[in-house]
Amino acid sequence: MKVTAVAPSNIALIKYWGRRDDKLVLPYNGSISVTLDKLLTKTTVEFSRDYKKDEIVINGERVTGEKLKRALNFINFIRRISGEESPVRVVSENNFPTAAGLASSASGFSALALACSNALDLNLSDREVSILARMSGSGSAARSLFGGFVEWHRGKRSDGSDSYAEQIANETHWKDFRILVSILTTLEKKISSADGMRYTVKTSPFYTGWLKTIKNDLRIVKSSIRKRDFTNLGKTSEHNCLKMHALMISTVPSLIYWMPSTLEVMHKVMELRRDGLECYFTIDAGPNVKVLCLKEDVKKIKKRLKELKSIKELVEARPGRGAYLSKKHLF
Ligand code: PMV
Repeated sequence: MKVTAVAPSNIALIKYWGRRDDKLVLPYNGSISVTLDKLLTKTTVEFSRDYKKDEIVINGERVTGEKLKRALNFINFIRRISGEESPVRVVSENNFPTAAGLASSASGFSALALACSNALDLNLSDREVSILARMSGSGSAARSLFGGFVEWHRGKRSDGSDSYAEQIANETHWKDFRILVSILTTLEKKISSADGMRYTVKTSPFYTGWLKTIKNDLRIVKSSIRKRDFTNLGKTSEHNCLKMHALMISTVPSLIYWMPSTLEVMHKVMELRRDGLECYFTIDAGPNVKVLCLKEDVKKIKKRLKELKSIKELVEARPGRGAYLSKKHLF
């Protein structure tokens, strides 16, 4: 009954922002991400009558309040599917800062979905685990199950059975692809993605305009991945990120996830491009900036980025493998 899963975080190249169904976590648009080899969550779960009550420990701290509620909502949902009634113990560790736009919820809920579905012998296919992870509330968790480059399909059905993630190309397809994760702050964001996107869909005057551009962005990025066309992938991803942040900024009340240092990194990336070092930025619902580049330029780009005092840490990641089970339990 004790199962451990390891799941990576992922960075969206084409972003998901907005749900057509809040309960089933069905997106208004499809998205594409790259799975990272560096930022991982490891989670051990055990359902047992020996426990008196449910307990969740993340990075050594017992979880309480909203976070506990969110995780237990998901665990109770899995309980209803499986018929399991005994209390659960969950111990989880991230090797990176939680909730600062580094997709900790994606890796966290992906690991939880994979561990719980195996602990309860649900016998799910990869696609079904990705649907389960999607229903955790962190939709992007659906993408972390797979390695390399991944698409989460919008789907059409109202029951969500066709809204799952699928691999476009595995982690060995583009060996020179690099993602530099610049950590500017480790503070947790004040407004969750789920709340933020709900406000955006309701209030941003640009939301329908955003949706009109998605099909084209998905098509370009998918074919750029297949052809290893870095220029088209980078340009389209960076522009897609800016379009998402335009939605956020135009939300009422506005969602400005950027800090002055976020803009500093963005300008640095543009400066590097002018100097002939090809790189592009992408930013999620947080201040930290991820810089996309190729192996041949990575040394020079890292050196130039490190000139910025506001970058506390720079993690060099590559496309990584998807979530997997491990025998090394955390308790
Ligand atoms: O899946 P959530 O609720 O963690 O939201 C993810 C939202 C973005 O990171 C901004 C975009 C994305 O597609 O990952």
